[in-house]
Amino acid sequence: MEIKNNLILALDVLSGKKAIEICNQLTEYIDTIKIGYPLTLAEGISIIGILKEKFDFKVICDYKVADIDATNSKICNQTFKAGADAIICHGFVGSDSVQACFNSAKKYDKELFLLTEMSHPGAKEFLQKNADAIAQMGVDMNIKNYVAPATRLDRLREIRNIVGNDAYIISPGVGKQGGDAKKTLKYANAIIVGRSIYESDNPKIACENLIKTLK
Ligand code: C5P
Repeated sequence: MEIKNNLILALDVLSGKKAIEICNQLTEYIDTIKIGYPLTLAEGISIIGILKEKFDFKVICDYKVADIDATNSKICNQTFKAGADAIICHGFVGSDSVQACFNSAKKYDKELFLLTEMSHPGAKEFLQKNADAIAQMGVDMNIKNYVAPATRLDRLREIRNIVGNDAYIISPGVGKQGGDAKKTLKYANAIIVGRSIYESDNPKIACENLIKTLK
């Protein structure tokens, strides 16, 4: 996936109006957004098509799909039918569940991102212990796209080592969660940034300043 400025906006706002208002300010800098349950539950799945039509952005749906294979297929199919360019699934549910998401992505000619380890402190309790194995499962399954944390660069580096340099890693946790943008991009292909842009008094300036730090 080609991502402008290697920056993905995590748009976890609670109304379509707010989402559009923020996107309008950022079109110069951003061509890819990540939406998740906050915005989708507030506005319905049609928000994907609405944002795509208005901005021609790539939309990654962070639905952290984590169910049995049959249910995962339905979730992914509905998401791609609604216009998503990519979906994020959890890996801890195992290869059959992940394969169902991968098959759906292939059917719609869209992308799947496999989530290896999350960026928040709680990820250390359960997920981190299995993150390397999850990444290795992705490699064995020929998955090319991964999500790995900007908040723990040693872990991000390790996951990069496992998935290899040809894999595409997107990394959340920059800004509000403490991750550093430039350091993260040593190992990740793109950073995911939410609150430090959309909660800022001036999202455009926040975005511009962040991009300057990447140079
Ligand atoms: O607001 P902030 O910049 O912390 O947003 C980070 C985004 O990335 C949120 O949408 C969060 O749900 C998501 N995310 C994460 N850690 C992961 C996967 C996704 O923080 N491992």
